[in-house]
Amino acid sequence: MVVPGSQNPEEQMFNPPSELQKDAHIPDFKTYLQLYKKSIDDPEAFWKEVAQDFFWKSPPKGQFLQYNFDVKKGNIYVKFMEGAKTNMCYNILDRNVKEKNCGEKVAYYWEGNSCDQYRAITYSQLLKEVCKCANVLKYMGVKKGDRVAIYLPMIPELVYVMLACVRIGAVHSIVFAGFSSDSLCERIVDSECSVLVTADGVYRGEKLINLKQIADEALEKCKEKGNVTVKNCIVVRHLGQMTKNGVVSLKLQTPWRADCDVWWDEVMKGSSEECEPEWVDAEDPLFILYTSGSTGKPKGVLHTVAGYLLYTALTFKYVFDHHPEDVYWCTADIGWITGHSYITYGPLANGATSVLFEGIPVHPHVGRFWEIIEKYSVTKFYTAPTAIRLLMKYGPEPLKQFNLDSLKILGTVGEPINPEAWLWYYNIVGQKRCPVLDTFWQTETGGHVLTPLPAATPLKPGSATLPFFGVLPVILNEHGEELEGEAEGYLVFRQPWPAIMRSVYGNHERFENIYFKKFPGFYVTGDGCKRDKDGYYWITGRIDDMLNVSGHLLSTAEVEAALTEYPAVAEAAVVSRPHSVKGECLYCFVTLKDGKEFGHQLAEELKRQVRVKIGPIATPDFIQNAPALPKTRSGKIMRRILRQIARNEKDLGDLSTLADPKVVEVLFNQRCEAAA
Ligand code: WT7
Repeated sequence: MVVPGSQNPEEQMFNPPSELQKDAHIPDFKTYLQLYKKSIDDPEAFWKEVAQDFFWKSPPKGQFLQYNFDVKKGNIYVKFMEGAKTNMCYNILDRNVKEKNCGEKVAYYWEGNSCDQYRAITYSQLLKEVCKCANVLKYMGVKKGDRVAIYLPMIPELVYVMLACVRIGAVHSIVFAGFSSDSLCERIVDSECSVLVTADGVYRGEKLINLKQIADEALEKCKEKGNVTVKNCIVVRHLGQMTKNGVVSLKLQTPWRADCDVWWDEVMKGSSEECEPEWVDAEDPLFILYTSGSTGKPKGVLHTVAGYLLYTALTFKYVFDHHPEDVYWCTADIGWITGHSYITYGPLANGATSVLFEGIPVHPHVGRFWEIIEKYSVTKFYTAPTAIRLLMKYGPEPLKQFNLDSLKILGTVGEPINPEAWLWYYNIVGQKRCPVLDTFWQTETGGHVLTPLPAATPLKPGSATLPFFGVLPVILNEHGEELEGEAEGYLVFRQPWPAIMRSVYGNHERFENIYFKKFPGFYVTGDGCKRDKDGYYWITGRIDDMLNVSGHLLSTAEVEAALTEYPAVAEAAVVSRPHSVKGECLYCFVTLKDGKEFGHQLAEELKRQVRVKIGPIATPDFIQNAPALPKTRSGKIMRRILRQIARNEKDLGDLSTLADPKVVEVLFNQRCEAAA
């Protein structure tokens, strides 16, 4: 399959396996090109056809698709099927149970943190639990349009609550259960949630996380800010269920507040299994999901019902070439967009069977992923480059103990994948039999935008290859001029696809400023990109002040704000440094206030400060004392120079714009070599 040639990854091609092409939805490159052309020339006809696979209580009222991408022509908006009435939950659950005869089919194989914790949930069980939960929310006064905050680990209840919200037209705002109480509070306040759903606690590997305690701290902080929107807190007794001899609840580390707290099992017990779905508009909000913003304040990315349904359903079907007998596993957490689109919505819309995994790749042993693939005969596997790089370190031995012959397709998401990791994934995990799909997308795009299709697209390691149906990528230079052919510049999109975000929750102006102002007429991704001679796209990384640590976006401003909140810190500047597993890691320069001493202990306290303020994913790897920071005469910190110091790049180029070039030498002499 490999076209021999140079070491240059651009010239190495991997053709789709013919085995896969036999009954694939998109069986060859020609079919891809034909359909792609149709999707771009006549998006309305293309998506109308896709919409026929779903249930609409009433048809769209006006035009099927309307949009404006040009700030000079007025407000930015995107509307798919406006006026049509539907319900996402009805489409992905009731229809599978009642019309497609999938009631007894497994929707999720839940696999807990520890190997002896697992169970299967069928589509009809899922529907019942969702209806019961929907009735609980209704009883608590949650109505269409109200926001519900969800702070749960990867347990089935997480899916129940999210779909319960959708059933009654409420808007879920899921906060990844690794975020701190500050981050949770900020998100609850921003979207004014009236209910919070959490759990007593969770084990992540060996580590116990007292979720209820963090949730309480968050609610306390909301109160201090004068924002008391949460009236009820539902607590799933998760650790209580974990013991073998009967239910023993985890001893909560935090007091029970009788006026607000209720146990999940107690409210679910008497709740009815019937719940009529709320018929909502195609363009009504479906959910809010926060993502880091380059100014430091997270953005509440808003997605709406119909477009998101069509797009996650179709990308899942084609990108993973879904067939009814597949067992699919995406290792992401539902707290991120990957989990929303490709654990919950896309797979359920296709009536798929998925693995829902609570744990981590290296617990209780480094072969856990491979063990789970064997246990459930997983056919399609989707994970992050950082996980691949981590597991690569243990060599091929842990894989040899398990049978991975069921695998047909492998995917990656979240960050660029280096060709070395790609080849390891392809050769060792996929045994040279499974295409590796590098899927590029964002919280904002709702679903894959640049991606190979497994039976159609020849692959190049490290390239997200070509656009999905309906997506029209363009590369612009600094001046906003379109570049043709081989080129490198800003990655932007010229026209909407159904799942593009509709707004920043509560701040439409911010939405327009961030994504549409820089280059009128285009959606700006914030990523740099190269197009090669074959028209393949290669993401080169963020071109704003964002970092990608283990596939998670962080803003330097957010980390700097956490550092400067620490009393001894006068100023902080954060840059990225390459990391062999995480992709990038945080390298922080801090200037202390007069009279404060820098030392190992302070560095550790500053790391803790960031962990507490944002969450463990943001923990810095390096903290360097900076008696002064390199600044321009107008006082702007020159991050380019700091980045080069962090990476030990000695050739700094032109320093004449610096107010005091001597600063650089001092910083170089004190740079951190290994993780402090
Ligand atoms: C940013 C979006 C998409 C779900 C998870 C992350 C980077 C994402 C790739 C890829 C290179 C990638 C981009 C993007 N990114 N996928 N396949 N190759 N870079 O969602 O947190 O919204 O982050 O992740 O920089 O803009 P997110």
